[in-house]
Amino acid sequence: MMYRLRNLIFGSKPQTYKPVIFITGCSSGVGLSLANHLYKMDCYRVVATARASSLKVLREHGLIDHENFLAIPMDVTKKRDRDRAIDTVERIWGGVDILINNAGVSYRAVVEDMTENDEQKQLATNYLGPMALIRLVLPYMRHRGRGKIINISSVSGMLAMPTMASYSASKHALEGASEALWYEMQPLGIDVTLVQPGFINSESFKKVKYTGTALEHELGRRGPYSDYYTNMAPFIERMMHLSPTTPDDVSKVVYKIIKTQRPGLRVAATLDASFFYYFRRLLPRRWLHPVLFRLLPNSRHWGKGYSNSRRKKQQESLRTSLLRPFR
Ligand SMILES: NC(=O)c1ccc[n+]([C@@H]2O[C@H](COP(=O)([O-])OP(=O)(O)OC[C@H]3O[C@@H](n4cnc5c(N)ncnc54)[C@H](OP(=O)(O)O)[C@@H]3O)[C@@H](O)[C@H]2O)c1
Repeated sequence: MMYRLRNLIFGSKPQTYKPVIFITGCSSGVGLSLANHLYKMDCYRVVATARASSLKVLREHGLIDHENFLAIPMDVTKKRDRDRAIDTVERIWGGVDILINNAGVSYRAVVEDMTENDEQKQLATNYLGPMALIRLVLPYMRHRGRGKIINISSVSGMLAMPTMASYSASKHALEGASEALWYEMQPLGIDVTLVQPGFINSESFKKVKYTGTALEHELGRRGPYSDYYTNMAPFIERMMHLSPTTPDDVSKVVYKIIKTQRPGLRVAATLDASFFYYFRRLLPRRWLHPVLFRLLPNSRHWGKGYSNSRRKKQQESLRTSLLRPFR
């Protein structure tokens, strides 16, 4: 009543609610593009987070704090950082309406070359950190009876690639948990969406991490797995360069999800993501992985000279079965 009276006297416009969007990993790629895009908009309040060491990138791009924009240091793997960041937002703006878990790292190492420590780091960034953030923002969203959780996944969350086992595992974990969360949030009015990009035309392959042994295998060009690395690394780099999808395109897909009332659980963000989705569904299960294996560069020669016992056995059994009629 008082509010309406005040508007009548002073003629001020009724205030509209500006949802608070919280984004992780804003120092490059998709996160930076999203922050840039939303910075210019007056209808949202945006919290762009990045690791303390990378936060300056936001300033360099002209993204400075104002009444609708806040840049906060946060390493997603650190509990103290996460608690402090969400606390700050709650103190200033009440809480988070839309959480975008975008920060991610990827290790390039075959399973045997991964270390337990690196597995922990991979999972902490791509899975455990995002889940902890979700737990921090859900009470506020539940209280309001609305909200959006947008998790940036990957095609690697539906199909794994050799030398990327841990990365795939982290995205599969994110997919599984988000799917369960989708069911849990249905009655509570909170949307959960997984964005699945395939190859993005960006420089992020330069940030790929190697374990010590993986690097030895790739650079030393010897060892049972060196062919895997020397073929997969340039292949992935080439696919990324050939991809018509830029980080800006992916951030537009995310923006569309922000605006959509009830977005779906899974949204493909690149052409190849849609292709692989149908490819996986249409091809009989028995053929899928052998066909994909054949499509990998030089895969028939991988591991040659290190263990060909299975190949020898196959040749042996073929020879004996051919000779059997003459015995
Ligand atoms: N690039 C692709 O082809 C591709 C394909 C499928 C899915 N994706 C996914 O899309 C998302 C965005 O990737 P992108 O291409 O934009 O990669 P990007 O350019 O490498 O950006 C990743 C961002 O995550 C941040 N980050 C890494 N570790 C962090 C941590 N512990 N705490 C906070 N921030 C951290 C990085 O910050 P620093 O600068 O501090 O390292 C960077 O800002 C990721 O989840 C990725 O897995 C990417």
